[in-house]
Amino acid sequence: MNIYDTLSAEHRQFEKLLDRLVKSSKAGTEEWKTILDELRRDVVSHAHAEEAVFYNSLREENQSAGLVVHSYAEHATTEAELRTLGGAKLIDANWTSLMEKLSKDLRHHIQEEESKIFDAARQVFTDEEAEMMGQAFERMKQETMKGGDSMVSSTLDLIANVLPPRMAGGFRKRVQDLRKSA
Ligand SMILES: [Fe+2]
Ligand SMILES: [Fe+2]
Repeated sequence: MNIYDTLSAEHRQFEKLLDRLVKSSKAGTEEWKTILDELRRDVVSHAHAEEAVFYNSLREENQSAGLVVHSYAEHATTEAELRTLGGAKLIDANWTSLMEKLSKDLRHHIQEEESKIFDAARQVFTDEEAEMMGQAFERMKQETMKGGDSMVSSTLDLIANVLPPRMAGGFRKRVQDLRKSA
């Protein structure tokens, strides 16, 4: 699957989880905790892999840097909202309004990503590159889910190898810079 279809399929899953979260919190059952955990895990690993594979490549390839930076900021907001909600002990008025905000923010982000970001990307990536990035995203996501922030170098090499060649150099360099600053 190309990167656009891969990301969109996951976005549809997030929307379903958001609907379930709203329903279960209204029903007053404890199920919301499980759903929220699942949503947080999936969204965070999706966002991290998306940044590494897709946003960073896009940022290097065209003038849409402002657009990408805006999207990075939305990822940070969503992640913070998910963590705050997860830290709550019970559902109160504050929790409900935060959840409504998360739902609104995440849906807005998805909508913008699938329109503005995808449009910008389609102008610079070939079909073959979009296909390769879809594969790189899948691998990267598995790793971020498994190891959190710690990643094995061989895996990073694997990812670099499946990225389109003109993007692999930049990817390797960013990994090296990250290691130096760690
Ligand atoms: Fe996304
Ligand atoms: Fe995103």
